[in-house]
Amino acid sequence: MGIRNVCILFGGRSGEHEVSCRSAASVAKNLDPNKYRQILIGIDKAGRWYLQHKAQFLKEDYGERLEVATMAEVVSVVPGQGLGSPSGSLNVDVVFPVLHGTFGEDGTVQGLLEIADLPYVGAGVLGSSLAMDKAKTKEIWRQSGLPVVDFIVVRDGSSESTARILKKIPVPLFVKPVTAGSSVGITKVKSADQLQPALAEALRFDSKVMVEPAVDAREIECAVLGNESPQAFAPGEILPNHEFYSYEAKYIDPEGAELKLPADLPETLSHEIRSLAVAAFRAAECSGMARVDFFLERESDRILLNEINTIPGFTNISMYPKMCEASGLAYPKLLDRLIELALERHNRRRALRFSL
Ligand SMILES: Nc1ncnc2c1ncn2[C@@H]1O[C@H](COP(=O)(O)OP(=O)(O)O)[C@@H](O)[C@H]1O
Ligand SMILES: [Mg+2]
Repeated sequence: MGIRNVCILFGGRSGEHEVSCRSAASVAKNLDPNKYRQILIGIDKAGRWYLQHKAQFLKEDYGERLEVATMAEVVSVVPGQGLGSPSGSLNVDVVFPVLHGTFGEDGTVQGLLEIADLPYVGAGVLGSSLAMDKAKTKEIWRQSGLPVVDFIVVRDGSSESTARILKKIPVPLFVKPVTAGSSVGITKVKSADQLQPALAEALRFDSKVMVEPAVDAREIECAVLGNESPQAFAPGEILPNHEFYSYEAKYIDPEGAELKLPADLPETLSHEIRSLAVAAFRAAECSGMARVDFFLERESDRILLNEINTIPGFTNISMYPKMCEASGLAYPKLLDRLIELALERHNRRRALRFSL
């Protein structure tokens, strides 16, 4: 096997642009240079793709990030023929979309890569777009008999709807946009008068909003890796030092949360979480990788699924690579495996017939 050409897509038209630049810096550093040649494509906040002739690493408080250089050649996607630039076609064997959130993790880029006929890391179109919609994902999980926190979906913040919501779900409750991430637009509502402003805030980010009872729970995450036979790693725990695992706790306050690896759990619970993570991954039509997030209710020890992330954070301190590492799969080996899985899925799809 010769050296493979891996294209890293990073940046993107999403609220999580900066996080992607940090994740991509780690991926670029951990890809084994004896196995891979890197082609970096930076996507600016307006969604334009640029070929990066040289990786530009910037030092930050959080470590390193890649910067999107826009004084560069524009990249085009050629249906059925991969990627190109004004100087010719790009030699790409596999694409790693290191993109979080909209236009990256939501099936749109995945669709573009299908049309370009390129193998890519992570979930396909359906899994990606489904996981982006927290409400639809939970409906599917519920139908598959998997445990989730109760929820209702609302599309307006009128006083009639607040009254209706409070009848079904008493405070304290959580209000969140259905398709956002990074805790953007999420409020914990502790009294009835806080509901309307919370709905208005969430409706800034999505036309669909979810309301859920606030559960008093530990937050447990589980890394899943694989295609047809996915495996789940030992779960980790997030211990937020804020009211909940908010945007501030995630990205602003350096002491916002502690990560515990592995989570301190009795063997039976850990085992149950791992099998639920695999079931959740399958039910949500994922492939390659995903991080499945749970609530472990303090009083009852009940395990509840919260959400699934198809392109989880990939920085050196991110939970997904850390959880794999804690189970003996070092970061560079994890990347090898993700690339193999991408090629395997592409080959399987290639073997299918799309006409009689
Ligand atoms: N029903 C809930 N009960 C308790 N805490 C919640 C609930 N829903 C969300 N949270 C808190 O908000 C955080 C972010 O919510 P989440 O649904 O994971 O959205 P995001 O995609 O933005 O991470 C969670 O990690 C948790 O701290
Ligand atoms: Mg979350």
